[in-house]
This record gives sequence, C-alpha cells and structure tokens, in this order.
Amino acid sequence: MSALSSALPDFPWDLLEPAKAIAAAHPDGIVDLSVGTPVDRVPPVVRQALADASDAPGYPLTAGTPRLRAAIAGWLARACGASGELGVLPTIGSKELVAWLPTLLGIGPGDVVVIPSVCYPTYEVGARLAGAEVIRSDSLTALGPDRRVKLLWINSPSNPTGKVLPVEHLRKVVSWARERGVVVASDECYLSLGWESTPVSVLADEVTGGDYTGVLAVHSLSKRSNLAGYRAGFVGGDPALVGELLAVRKHGGMIVPAPVQAAMVAALDDEAHVAAQRERYAARRDTLRSALTKAGFEISHSEAGLYLWATRDEDCWVTVDRLARRGILAAPGAFYGPAAAGHVRIALTATDERVAAAADRLAEPF
Ligand SMILES: Cc1ncc(COP(=O)(O)O)c(C=O)c1O
Repeated sequence: MSALSSALPDFPWDLLEPAKAIAAAHPDGIVDLSVGTPVDRVPPVVRQALADASDAPGYPLTAGTPRLRAAIAGWLARACGASGELGVLPTIGSKELVAWLPTLLGIGPGDVVVIPSVCYPTYEVGARLAGAEVIRSDSLTALGPDRRVKLLWINSPSNPTGKVLPVEHLRKVVSWARERGVVVASDECYLSLGWESTPVSVLADEVTGGDYTGVLAVHSLSKRSNLAGYRAGFVGGDPALVGELLAVRKHGGMIVPAPVQAAMVAALDDEAHVAAQRERYAARRDTLRSALTKAGFEISHSEAGLYLWATRDEDCWVTVDRLARRGILAAPGAFYGPAAAGHVRIALTATDERVAAAADRLAEPF
C-alpha cells in the first residue's frame, strides 16, 4: 500500500506553529488573524432550527429534504441572479466538496485540473487525491490546446487576495470551457462580502444566460452565517453534473446530517443576520486596513472577501515574524502559491476587542 498522504503537500498550518508560539507569548495575548474562522455567534434563528430538528433517528436524504432543495434554489435565484432550471445538492461543508470534486467527477491520472495561480490550497489537494496533474494559471490563453484539462477552478471573491472576477472574465471562462468540454467549478463562498466591488456569481444570467452546461457554483454557509462548525455547504449548476454528483454520493455517502439540513433552511431564508455580520466585518476591516497602511503595509486587491492581502515588499515569512513579535499571527502568502511569497493574509475574523488590540500593536514602530 502506498501512503496517499505522501502525494499531498505539507499541511501548511503546521508550518506556522513557531510563529504562533512567539505571538502567544505576548503579555496581552495573541491576536490570531491567520485562519479565517468565524468568532461571532451562530444566529439564534439557525440554532433554534437545529434544536427543533434534533430528534432525527432516521437516515437523511443525500439529495437534501424538499424544503432544503427549495431553499437552496430560491437563494441561488435571489442572491446569484440565476433564473434557469438549476441542479442543487447540499454538501458537508465546502472544503470537503473541493477536496473530493475531482474524484466524484471521475477525474484521475492523465487528467489536468487548472487552479488559480494564488489560491485556497484545497483545490490542489483535491486534484492530487484524484491522482490528477495540477496547473496553476489565471490565463486561458497560457493553457493552450491541452486536451487533458478536465476541470477548471475559479474563486471570486478570492481567498486570499480578495480579487473579484468581472462579468466579462466569467463569460470568457465559461465559453472557453464549454468549447473544450471542461467543467468550470466556481467557488463563491465569499460572495456576500463585497466591499469596493460587487461580486458576481458564475450562475448569474449575465454570465450564463440561464444555460448552466458544464458549470458548478460551490457555496458555503460557514462565512455567510457563522456556520463553519455545522459543516454546511451546497453546490448548484448544471443539472446533469449535479445529478452525477448525487448518483455517486448516494453510494458513497457524505450525507448532510438532518438537523444541519434544517438549520441550513433557516440560514438561507434569513438575510437579516447576514447584513448584521457584514457590518461587523466592515468595521473590523476599516480598523485593520488603516492600521496596516499607517504601519507601512500596502494592501493589494482586497476589494471583497474576508481578508486583507498585505505586503511590505519583503519575504512573507519575515513579515509573519515581525507581526508575531507584536503578538499578531498572520498567514504567509506562500501557503497560497509560489507567486504569493511577498504577501501576508490578514483575516477579519477576530473579535472587536482583539482587532482593536492588533491596531494598537501595529501603531508601535515597525
Ligand atoms: C475559498 C474557500 N473555499 C472553501 C472554503 C471551505 O469552507 P467550508 O468548508 O467551511 O465551507 C474556504 C474556507 O476558508 C475557502 O476560503
């Protein structure tokens, strides 16, 4: 037996442990802005729905309850502007789907998965788990006529850069992929967090014209609704592709637990908690952005999403170390691709008190 883990990259967060130990030694405690893990409360309406559905002795439906399927379709129509007939499927989180999508689609050795040059590491992991080759590219022309390409990931707003792909770019990607029979998977888990620009879903009518052939949009309630602990995500798009995912999952499982399905309905049907959470992140973003700028950082992109993508024009590990000595933990750009080694990623996911502490520490001379 060969160890599958040996085909995978080093687990990046383990590499951050030394900097974490330095930051944790700060007399006023660490301000952890590395992992984008929500810290605010789960909305009461969602917790109530989970509790009300907790008497769940039977197996849940892999396809999702009719109520959940309707809630997902309704949300995709409202929030993404998708007016056509969509396939929808709930997923255990979206990390799990990202990691297993190539496998679920039957992609394997000899195939290529294209991922953004700077991106969330799990796209590469998913390709490697399937035994496929990975190409990092943001340019369709650079890919040339490579017939081995089977799946292309896009992520807008991007983790880590906060860059938003404009409608024309999304259109080009979809038509390029359709001409070649390539599946486009668009990870849109930060769609509700546009600051200086409004992110557009790949499912929007302006992009697809209501024809979702070859297109999947991957969504998550982790950031939108502070539900990272519930593991609640979903995919919508090409009914044939979604049907294929369902057909494999009916055999392979990965079924979303029934109480989580009920909680997802409550989360999708309510926008008030999303607006309130946005306000919290907007205030933290303003505080961190101005403190970083005053401390000599340049902020790149970051027009949307849950992070500030910052640089001091030096190696990211030097910046991580400087920040750790002030008790602030940031994620090094190197985690997201070789082209990102001059940046650090600063998450907006800390309490107001910790964000204020970070701003005070950034005011000390660098
Ligand atoms: C771009 C991107 N996709 C997917 C995920 C996974 O989110 P979850 O598994 O909580 O839905 C994350 C988490 O940080 C992310 O940044």
